[in-house]
Amino acid sequence: MGIIFVIFLIGGLVIFNGYSKNASSNPVEEKPRDFKCLKCHKGSKSLENMVKEKNITSAEELRVLIRKGPKSGLHTTVPDEDLEKAIQYLNLK
Ligand code: HEC
Repeated sequence: MGIIFVIFLIGGLVIFNGYSKNASSNPVEEKPRDFKCLKCHKGSKSLENMVKEKNITSAEELRVLIRKGPKSGLHTTVPDEDLEKAIQYLNLK
């Protein structure tokens, strides 16, 4: 009798553990995905491609290019906050 109780107890714990894992499996957002840059930069013009094409290797280079580069006029509406998100998104340092 006792052993059946223990089996139930363990089974219950395993199931409960599975449920609570699912409930709390709110994956931590590693990369921001909802920032302004992505509204314009899609497909072949994706940020990843732009950065590769322009050989941007540091966060500072990207900041300067966006704010002072030849295409800065296209980026006047982009808040600094989103520029920083882009830097995170692209893993630039
Ligand atoms: C309003 C639309 C728009 C938004 C928002 C936008 N871009 Fe752009 N971006 C463009 C266009 C259009 C170009 C020119 C593409 C080309 O050269 O064909 C461009 C060019 C670039 C370039 C290349 C710059 C150069 O000098 O050639 C980079 C890098 C870039 N964008 C990054 C970003 C980042 C990072 C963000 C967010 C902080 C952003 N863009 C937001 C439209 C946008």
